[in-house]
Amino acid sequence: MNPIYDKLINCLDQIHKITDFQPEVGLVLGSGLGGFGEKIKISSTVDYSSIDGFPVSTVAGHAGRFIFGYVGDVPVVAMQGRVHYYEGYKMTDVVLPVRLMCMLGAKKIILTNAAGGINTTFKPGTLMSLTDHITSFVPSPLIGQNIDELGVRFPDMTTVYDEKLRKILKDTAKSLDIPLKEGVYIQFTGPAYETPAEIRAARTLGADAVGMSTAVEAMALRHMGARVCAVSCISNPAAGLNKKPLTHEEVKETADMVSDQFQKLIYNSIINMGKEE
Ligand code: HPA
Repeated sequence: MNPIYDKLINCLDQIHKITDFQPEVGLVLGSGLGGFGEKIKISSTVDYSSIDGFPVSTVAGHAGRFIFGYVGDVPVVAMQGRVHYYEGYKMTDVVLPVRLMCMLGAKKIILTNAAGGINTTFKPGTLMSLTDHITSFVPSPLIGQNIDELGVRFPDMTTVYDEKLRKILKDTAKSLDIPLKEGVYIQFTGPAYETPAEIRAARTLGADAVGMSTAVEAMALRHMGARVCAVSCISNPAAGLNKKPLTHEEVKETADMVSDQFQKLIYNSIINMGKEE
């Protein structure tokens, strides 16, 4: 068998020994949504470190666990903490947790992150629903022997971000009076923030926001046939658009500043996704 698929099945078995919870929606809690765990009526949690073979985040302050529980009546699994490529993991490990969420039964997945604003109309604190992405500057998580059990060798990526889920995000935001922009996300490896020249290049390529996660997760999920949507919290003007140097502290501060709105949007969107057949 494919060793990457072996590892997935092994991790899945370990989780199933702890819980038989059947999630409908999967959620990745990025910066600014860490507190969302408190909004979930928790049934059980599984620490990443308790799963043999599971990649554990090295970033300080990133708690690593799956939360199983309910948002309203909707059964969800949430990832509190994700791993990034810049931490040194293989791309197949970076996407292992989201693949597991899908294998656990979550066929609708919401990815979230903090991102730099390339589009100058997207000020810090703006929430942006992803319409598309550019992953050409990071290795594909699908490189290597194809996992036929998950999807085809050459998956279509015309519509990575599901139109119906995007509409739910948009309608939910409107009903809550939360401004929600739409745009294209570009993923770079990090961990250094970009140079101003890289940001100008990214803008020329059509990107509105930049970050170090999410797009490869979306690609791996799309390969599996999951329905994906994603929201970025614009935490800072991207490099060169502001006189101040970029810091992780600024990213965290802005993400925390809008976390109430962000949480409200995600909470109510999940409720509305649960109403979908
Ligand atoms: N660049 C890359 N990743 C980021 C940024 C940025 O400006 N802000 C938050 N994550």
